[in-house]
Amino acid sequence: MDYEKVLKDFEEFLQNYPLDFEGFHPYFQKAFWEMLLNGGKRFRPALLLAVVESYAPVLLKNAFLPALALECLHTYSLIHDDLPCMDNADLRRGHPTLHKTYDITTATLVGDGLNTFSFYLLTQARLSPENKLKMIEVLSTNGGVGGMIIGQAMDCYFENQKLPLEKLYLIHLNKTAKLIATSLYMGGLVVNLDQKSLHNLYNFGITLGIFFQVRDDIIDCVHTQEEAGKTTQNDSYKNSYVNLLGLDGARDELKRLKETLLQEMEKFPEKLQQNLQWLLKKYFKDEI
Ligand code: IPE
Ligand code: IPE
Ligand code: MG
Ligand code: MG
Ligand code: MG
Repeated sequence: MDYEKVLKDFEEFLQNYPLDFEGFHPYFQKAFWEMLLNGGKRFRPALLLAVVESYAPVLLKNAFLPALALECLHTYSLIHDDLPCMDNADLRRGHPTLHKTYDITTATLVGDGLNTFSFYLLTQARLSPENKLKMIEVLSTNGGVGGMIIGQAMDCYFENQKLPLEKLYLIHLNKTAKLIATSLYMGGLVVNLDQKSLHNLYNFGITLGIFFQVRDDIIDCVHTQEEAGKTTQNDSYKNSYVNLLGLDGARDELKRLKETLLQEMEKFPEKLQQNLQWLLKKYFKDEI
């Protein structure tokens, strides 16, 4: 399948992205890219590329920098999420977390660096000035204080304090779903979709993002750290769907979200549906 090949090409692009830092730090440049090289599902880039591949494959060459920008911002959020002052986790993407391999200073600064680097990458993308500006706007808000950051702040602040489900929904919406929705939206910008189509992509992305985080809450409960490639059984102080609804309740919610997702997907053109179905099968297997 063409889309599968695109994902392979993107992975190669990421693995070989040239970095050339000034300065005489003995290992900062290595540390900077290490968590990207360590793997990860590349789910957000894959969503962006699914949209571009389905609407206008000729524009794929303009999509790799925005896709990499998303992965950099997401990876930064993971590096900071694992810090002792946040979730305090030792394992990520099958490897020790960056602050374990190096130190907290390095992990903090790599996160900061990846955050700003993602916007540098957007400035280098081949897009119309209007679309580039719009992309910077949506990524900086949804991946920043209008989304991921406020979500993470609420997630950490309300540890040890049981919240009602509507509030947990708002945390998951912000910390996870908005960046996932933005990934699809950014794909739509690469191919110049109209407002209504962008809006539909974003809304579908929100449902997908909530599905993703509810599933992640379940993973924390049911997977070993070897299976997950990251620290698990780590959410006992958190508000999570498992903690609020119980494991069966969270699984029911996941099922309900899956039905909504499949329904919302029917609005999309055939080719996009195919790409998304393939992607969801690959990542969620029998769950979707
Ligand atoms: C983990 O994201 C953090 C959440 C938002 C749940 P992923 O599950 O996409 O992590 P990687 O990128 O595959 O490592
Ligand atoms: C993190 O949620 C969401 C982010 C914005 C990074 P989690 O804290 O549940 O993610 P994991 O389980 O550590 O990957
Ligand atoms: Mg967290
Ligand atoms: Mg965490
Ligand atoms: Mg989690």
